[in-house]
Amino acid sequence: MLRRLHPVQPESFEFTPANLEWARAQISKYPEGRQASAIIPLLWRAQEQEGWLTRPAIEYVADMLGMPYIRALEVATFYFMFQLQPVGSVAHIQICGTTSCMICGAEDLIRVCKEKIAPTPHTLSADGKFSWEEVECLGACANAPMAQIGKDYYEDLTADRLAEIIDELAAGKVPVPGPQNGRYASEPKSGLTTLKDHAEGRAPYNASVQRAVDLGDTVKRIDGTEVPILTPWLGKGGTASRPERPEPGAQKNEPKPAKGKPVDETGVTVQQARAESVAKPELSDGVVGTRPPALEGPRDGRPDDLKQIKGVGPKLEELLHSLGIWHFDQIASWSEAELAWVDDHLDGFRGRATRDRWIEQARILAEGGETEFSKRVEEGDVY
Ligand code: FES
Repeated sequence: MLRRLHPVQPESFEFTPANLEWARAQISKYPEGRQASAIIPLLWRAQEQEGWLTRPAIEYVADMLGMPYIRALEVATFYFMFQLQPVGSVAHIQICGTTSCMICGAEDLIRVCKEKIAPTPHTLSADGKFSWEEVECLGACANAPMAQIGKDYYEDLTADRLAEIIDELAAGKVPVPGPQNGRYASEPKSGLTTLKDHAEGRAPYNASVQRAVDLGDTVKRIDGTEVPILTPWLGKGGTASRPERPEPGAQKNEPKPAKGKPVDETGVTVQQARAESVAKPELSDGVVGTRPPALEGPRDGRPDDLKQIKGVGPKLEELLHSLGIWHFDQIASWSEAELAWVDDHLDGFRGRATRDRWIEQARILAEGGETEFSKRVEEGDVY
């Protein structure tokens, strides 16, 4: 199937302020020089905002990521999940046409779409409210046939029920997603054969359906205000949402203290200290942390290659030098307050030192050891 940009395009595209903030937070997840890695989430958010991916949106995202337009166009035209033509203002309906669904009646569902929406896929209905397409398996085969509408799955469908759902959506309602034949989830149609006790006193809907019912926004366009943007690595937006992932080499070479066990006479555990530093980096009078000892220049004129620390690229290395940091052992000796200070001074990369566990990496490197990442740098596998 040829995937081309639609001949009719809007004049311009802009993220809503909340989506723009979200997009910037996504970009900050990637290492310096690798911002282009955020292309898919940003294109996806542009589509969630507008319903489809316009040329101005693709170019806007490419500009944000400093990419040539052709690179962004390659991604947008490669993945079928990106809609390159306008979709219904109310809903775009995706009918699964793969084996299980086909055997169980997907062709009847497609017939309903042809009759009620448009004879061909990717075509707007006469009132502009709906569009449809056939897609490959959506992973709900035990509840075939099914359709994805907006963000939710409508399962165990019949042609009549799909027609009703379209009418309900057209009338401004949000039909309850999930199984449409009375099943709770994907248990046998004849009823549960195991875990019967579990069924007693359960909530009226399974967790996915309950969530959709609570949100009530199956087909809502996303403007970024729906959920808080959680960016603890930038020092805001909560701490519990992103468990820290240890750097692989650090994990291997340095055993962690037992969880919850105090590590010194203060009785404070490592976990508590870290949570404290992320939650409250501002220590006093608006000054974040304590400046670590700086050197005027590298000892013997020979700085360590700080780029061997995962998360430090050429720009950050330069910035660290400007802060008087030239050697692994300097980083290895930072206290939590000094780590917070450095994190606060990483313009454009705030929070990276904590996120990438620079101290733990530096301790290994200062002792002449290697991390998985430093090995890759040595082998020339990191550009
Ligand atoms: S075959 Fe339709 S969801 Fe898998």
